[in-house]
Amino acid sequence: MWLRLMLVLVLLNYVRTSQNVQVSTPIGEILGTTLTTRLGKTIYAFRGIRYAKPPVNELRFKPPQPAEPWSGTYNATSDGPMCPQPGITPISEDCLFLNVYTTKLPTKGNNPKRPIIISLHPGGFYSSTGRSNWVGPHYFMDQDIILVTLNYRIASLGFISVGKEAPGNNGLRDQVMVMKWVRNNIASFGGDPNSVTLYGYSAGAWSITLHMVSPMSRGLFHKAIISSGSALGHWPLPTNQLDLAKKQARIVGCPDTNATVVIDCLSKTSAEELGNSLSQLAEFGFDPILIWSPVIEEDFGQEQFLADDPVKLIKSGNFEQIPIIAGITKDEFAQRVFPVLSNATLLEKLNNDFEAYAPIMFIYERGTNKSKEVSRSVRQFYFGNNPITNASLQNLGNAYSDSIVGFPVNRVVDLICEHSNKPVYYYEFTYQGRYSFFYLPNSDGTIPYGVAHHDDLIYLFYISPMFPFFNASFPESKMVQTLSSLWANFATASNPTDCGLKKNIYEIEWTPYDTTTKKYLEIGEKLTLKEKLFEDRYSLWRNLYPLSF
Ligand SMILES: *[C@@H]1O[C@H](CO)[C@@H](O)[C@H](O)[C@H]1NC(C)=O
Ligand SMILES: *[C@@H]1O[C@H](CO)[C@@H](O)[C@H](O)[C@H]1NC(C)=O
Ligand SMILES: *[C@@H]1O[C@H](CO)[C@@H](O)[C@H](O)[C@H]1NC(C)=O
Ligand SMILES: *[C@@H]1O[C@H](CO)[C@@H](O)[C@H](O)[C@H]1NC(C)=O
Ligand SMILES: *[C@@H]1O[C@H](CO)[C@@H](O)[C@H](O)[C@H]1NC(C)=O
Ligand SMILES: *[C@@H]1O[C@H](CO)[C@@H](O)[C@H](O)[C@H]1NC(C)=O
Repeated sequence: MWLRLMLVLVLLNYVRTSQNVQVSTPIGEILGTTLTTRLGKTIYAFRGIRYAKPPVNELRFKPPQPAEPWSGTYNATSDGPMCPQPGITPISEDCLFLNVYTTKLPTKGNNPKRPIIISLHPGGFYSSTGRSNWVGPHYFMDQDIILVTLNYRIASLGFISVGKEAPGNNGLRDQVMVMKWVRNNIASFGGDPNSVTLYGYSAGAWSITLHMVSPMSRGLFHKAIISSGSALGHWPLPTNQLDLAKKQARIVGCPDTNATVVIDCLSKTSAEELGNSLSQLAEFGFDPILIWSPVIEEDFGQEQFLADDPVKLIKSGNFEQIPIIAGITKDEFAQRVFPVLSNATLLEKLNNDFEAYAPIMFIYERGTNKSKEVSRSVRQFYFGNNPITNASLQNLGNAYSDSIVGFPVNRVVDLICEHSNKPVYYYEFTYQGRYSFFYLPNSDGTIPYGVAHHDDLIYLFYISPMFPFFNASFPESKMVQTLSSLWANFATASNPTDCGLKKNIYEIEWTPYDTTTKKYLEIGEKLTLKEKLFEDRYSLWRNLYPLSF
């Protein structure tokens, strides 16, 4: 008795001095800590919560298994490691952790039931993380939402796909497991499990477009923000990537005889070595940007995440009809021109054999007659059949942006709008601040080259390894306020510019998209409603890849 009392006193003291905080969830007690938002609110932060068994040893290349229950209190006061990837620490194959942030915990008899935003990180399915140093909650959490960030398996460890031995999509299954975790546990953090918004960027957005058609994700989310990526573009999803797995095997010195042999040997290779293979998997400079792809799984008796072509599923109405926001940044992947234009060897190759390299750069089918036809049209449209030189900077940039991001996002907007009865909000992010993920070469990191892929993330998350903390005296403050409130309003009320209480704080109302007027919101210094985003550029791709089925 005395011992227990003393322990309680010690703990109470501990709670006060280190500002720790504890919640009771259906799976046990979880100890968190506190952070402070940009505007000074207290964030209750629960970091490094294990949501699946360590995917190691016999669980490597296998679907995620639910985490073991724990006894006592789970220590969620610091981030878990990142999944294996090059050039960054800390990493570990044991990386299936999530973070939960809120500013209002439930009290006895009062649950704030806040809407939840689950953020799916970018990184081409081979990099990045949900750790709080890269995805700092300090900006978003000034809004009345709960934020969940996570790691999912990436590269070969998350997306190897060879057939029966490993059907693929395990990284996406990890994401589904997080959604289930949220459904089961988020009420304990003051969240409303019936109001879950997926916010995905790039590879995270590609993921969302597949969750919308996957039977495994059905009913687990209710709204989606699809930023700068979509798997519903012109590139065909494969049914497996055995050739890529064989290449991975050769890189780490494994035999590549057949699927069994490859999986066998890769199962024993160190996770770090697999994570570090990225640069050797490129085929032309740093291209293609998409290497480890989600796949349409053949039926080997496994629970299929994706069993059919997603475009076909949407056209047949077999998808999650929910309100969505989708959009791009003004210049997207235009920066990818620089490694090509500054490398005489690459440039010469491209000019001499456009048909061989363009499909790698712009991700479309290879080696077919159709591929040749596409290459001819792309060359004619963007370069007027002139040689590609530094004078092509803008057009080459447009070709990259349109093919990798712009058109696939435009297509998802059209498709969903046509086949869903819920609103679709379309945007272009054009705000060019002082900071960027890509600066003009030789500008010493001072002149952003347009508005690059990821640049909008700068205003939603504190990305501490790269950018300063935008306190209230930074000019960037206004965009932080605008973007985070648009996204939070949408998560709250399915309408980004009208969430009841906060009505009319924007100059305009963001009208949903329709396939006739094609309205979209330009998010720049001001919010401006416009029509027909890059219509001429996207019609090229639309005509090359008409919606069949
Ligand atoms: C929780 O983990 C942190 C970091 O690993 C450690 O410093 C702290 O002492 C732990 N707290 C408890 C109560 O075990
Ligand atoms: C795969 O290759 C190994 C080694 O050559 C061989 O023993 C095995 O039978 C092959 N498996 C299949 C399914 O072909
Ligand atoms: C040009 O690209 C090739 C192929 O990626 C690479 O091997 C070479 O090192 C690059 N050259 C320069 C000068 O960067
Ligand atoms: C073309 O642009 C690249 C990238 O900015 C630069 O490295 C290269 O020197 C330029 N070449 C010429 C001939 O100006
Ligand atoms: C591709 O085009 C060539 C030349 O026009 C033709 O002979 C061939 O049959 C075509 N191949 C296919 C698969 O259509
Ligand atoms: C904001 O940060 C800057 C630089 O880090 C600092 O000089 C300034 O005092 C801060 N302002 C506020 C309001 O915290």
